[in-house]
Amino acid sequence: MATLNTAGAEKRLGESRRVPHNPPIKTITKVRRLRSRGTPPEADARTDGRIGRVVRLLTDNPMVVLSGTKLASEIGTSRSAVWRFVQQLRSMGVEIAGHPATGYQLKSVPDLLLPEFVKPLVKGTIFAERLHHYFRIGSTNAEAMHAAAQGEPEGSVFLAEEQTAGRGRGGHSWLSEKSAGVYCSVVLRPEISPADTLAISLGAGLAVRSAVQEVTSLVADLRWPNDVLLAGKKFCGILIEMNAEPTRVRYLVLGIGLNVNQSSFPAALEKEATSLRMESGRPWSRVELAGALLKSLHREYGAIVSARSKVLAETIRRFEDASSAARGLQVRVEEEGGYEGVTEGLDASGFLRVRTAGGMRTVISGGVREIE
Ligand code: BTN
Repeated sequence: MATLNTAGAEKRLGESRRVPHNPPIKTITKVRRLRSRGTPPEADARTDGRIGRVVRLLTDNPMVVLSGTKLASEIGTSRSAVWRFVQQLRSMGVEIAGHPATGYQLKSVPDLLLPEFVKPLVKGTIFAERLHHYFRIGSTNAEAMHAAAQGEPEGSVFLAEEQTAGRGRGGHSWLSEKSAGVYCSVVLRPEISPADTLAISLGAGLAVRSAVQEVTSLVADLRWPNDVLLAGKKFCGILIEMNAEPTRVRYLVLGIGLNVNQSSFPAALEKEATSLRMESGRPWSRVELAGALLKSLHREYGAIVSARSKVLAETIRRFEDASSAARGLQVRVEEEGGYEGVTEGLDASGFLRVRTAGGMRTVISGGVREIE
């Protein structure tokens, strides 16, 4: 059976070879090569579910000093395991006072993307059933792709506090600072052809835009196919990887990297990258953003898979409305040897059209940059 490899599919969805927000890191290629030989990507890094239960108990009893014995019996573990979990939480910046002899008390509600916090916010969506959390992982996309290959169901969510080999489009990396962003991948199994996944890609950008607006009131701009910008700088990137036959998607992983509370970026990125905090001057709850994002993604994705042709036209129209670059922008396109022209909206399949001196052209794989 013929299969499209993930790189090919990813390219079809608007790969940008020159996305400079994250410079290429050679080690990522190495990691990918190793994984493609079948090594599970950091499978042991999944957060022990009991940690979430410790946090939940402490959060639900903010005024109380909970003894190690009480915590241990509530979650069915030993006092020494509780102590280990508390230490791990502290290393993630969670302020917990006390020690095994005195008991523990939470000093402030932690902003961790633990299922215990995210799940209640996404009740009633396809993302409510299986949420996997990682304090640190190579890449949530890699992990979700691996799990999907093993049969992980549609709607499974992979959330991380930190990624050490976050993947961006075009072989770039995605800088994933600890506890500063939302690093999230979801497994989807739409019954569509690979070409139709562009609609999901555009819909994901719209979902991020509306979630961010709902939580922060900031109104973001979209850059085809799915970069999300504020003040001309990128604060969110979306990477779709898939396993497909020529006419049918087996599964796809939609990865979203949202810069939330970063207060700066390395010099190589600072002209292109930003965060919600940098644009608004205040920090935001990553848990709230993750919840809003998944809810909004549920709506966009549900609409796309339930009534594809009608919804695609609508998604394209809404994308054009939300993207200042979709029409009338002088751009350079980095494909087919490179060419320049003026953007002329999206065609009926969702691809970007560019009017050039030699006539109208359709951008297939992204790499579109404004000519300053
Ligand atoms: C881009 O280059 O614009 C896409 C960036 C996508 C980054 C996200 S972070 C969560 C998920 N896991 C990854 O390794 N990549 C995506």
